[in-house]
Amino acid sequence: MSEPSEPARPLCGRRITLCVGGSIAAFKAASLASLLVKDGAEVQVVLTQAATEFINEATFSGLTGRPVLKNMFEPPAGAEVHIELGRASDLLVIAPATADLLARLATGRASDLVSTVALCARCPILCAPAMHPSMWSHPATQRNVATLRADGCVELVGPVEGVVASGESGVGRMVEPDVLAAMITARFAAKELLGRHVVVTAGPTAEDIDPVRYITNRSSGKMGFAIAERAAAHGARVTLIAGPVFLPTPRGVERIDIWSAEQMRDALWQAAGPDLAGADAIVMAAAVADFRPAAARAEKIRREGMADPLALDLVANPDIIGALGRARHGTRPVLVGFAMETGDDDELVASARRKLDAKHVDLVVGNRAEEAFARDDNRAILVGRTLLEPLARQSKHDLAERLVMWLVRQLGDPT
Ligand code: CTP
Repeated sequence: MSEPSEPARPLCGRRITLCVGGSIAAFKAASLASLLVKDGAEVQVVLTQAATEFINEATFSGLTGRPVLKNMFEPPAGAEVHIELGRASDLLVIAPATADLLARLATGRASDLVSTVALCARCPILCAPAMHPSMWSHPATQRNVATLRADGCVELVGPVEGVVASGESGVGRMVEPDVLAAMITARFAAKELLGRHVVVTAGPTAEDIDPVRYITNRSSGKMGFAIAERAAAHGARVTLIAGPVFLPTPRGVERIDIWSAEQMRDALWQAAGPDLAGADAIVMAAAVADFRPAAARAEKIRREGMADPLALDLVANPDIIGALGRARHGTRPVLVGFAMETGDDDELVASARRKLDAKHVDLVVGNRAEEAFARDDNRAILVGRTLLEPLARQSKHDLAERLVMWLVRQLGDPT
C-alpha cells in the first residue's frame, strides 16, 4: 500500500489575504488569485472601493471560493474583521497598490478595510505598486515609498518598466502575476522548522493475545505519516514512531517501528528524553489501543479444550500523551493529540475539549472514525484553548500541512 501521489501544492495550508487597489492593473490580481489558489493557498480577497470600479467582486469570489470583503461594516465582514485577518494571515499581498494606497500605508491611515488590515497585520506585507510613470516618479510618491522602506513594514515588488495602460512607457507597470506568485511560493519554501525536533506517532498499536493473535484497530497510519512528511518538508528533524502499517517512510524522516502501546510509550520517551527537552513538539496521531490482554500467552491458544465462551482479561494501557502532558514543565514540547470519535460534531467538540484538559495538550484534532480511518482524506475540527476551527474535508496531505503550519506558529522563529 502506498500514499497516493499529491500534486505539488506548495502553498497548501497558507492563508493569504490579497488586497486589490483601484487600478487598471486590478485584472492582474485576478490571475494572481487564481495562481495562488492553484498552488493550494486559501486566498481572502479584499477590494478597495476604487477597485470595484475596475473589477467585479464575483470574479474573485468565483476564483477563491470565498466571499470578497470590501467594507468592515457590511456583511460578510464583521466589526473585528480587520483584527482577525491581520492575525490569521500568513501573508498580506497588496496588488495592485495605487499611489493613493501607498500614501495611506505610509501615513498609517485606517480609512478603509485594506489600510486597516495592513495596520493590524502581524505577517509580512508584499506590495506591488501600479500607476502611471509620472505618478510613480512624483516626489510625494517617492517620499511615501522611502517611508515605507524605512519603516520596514512593507516589502515593495516593482513597479517595472514598460508600456502602461495609457500607451506611454516608463516605470509604473505592476509586476506580472506569475512573477509575484513565484516569489510568494519561494518565500514559503523557507524552512520554518529548521533546528526543531518534531516527534510524530502514527498507525495503530497491536496487543498480543498469544504468539499468533493480537488486538488492533483500523488506523492506517496515513495521517501521522503525512504529518511527518510535511514537518520534514518544512525543515524539522522528524522522528516517526510507527505502529504496524504498510507505508513507505517519508523522505528525511527517522522511523522507529513499534508493535504495542508500551513500546510506543518507551520509544517516545527515548526520543524526547527524560525531561522532554529533546523534542520541540509531539504529535500523537497514533490510534493507541486502550486495552491489552492482561497476560499474552506464551503458547498458541488451541481450539481443543478451549473454553466457550473464551473470556479475555484486558488491562488498561498507559495514557501515553496524558503522561507527557503531566510531565512537561511550561509550554514545551508543544503537544497535539487526536480525538477519534463516532458521535456527531457537537459530541466531537465536547470530547476534544475534555481531552484537551484531561491530557494537558495544546491542540486536539477531532475527527470521526468513518470519515478518517483508511481514507486518503479527512474532515477534522481543531480544538485548542482559544481555538475552535472546523475544517473542510481535505486530503490528509493538506490537513497535515495545516497542522504543521499551526506548529510553526506555536514554535515561532528558531532564532
Ligand atoms: N492516546 C494515548 N494513549 C492511549 C490512548 C490514546 O496517548 N492509551 C492518545 C491518542 O494518540 C490520541 C489521544 O490520546 O492522540 C486521544 O485518543 P482517543 O483514543 O481518541 O481517546 P482516549 O484517551 O483513548 O479516550 P476514549 O477512547 O475514551 O475516547
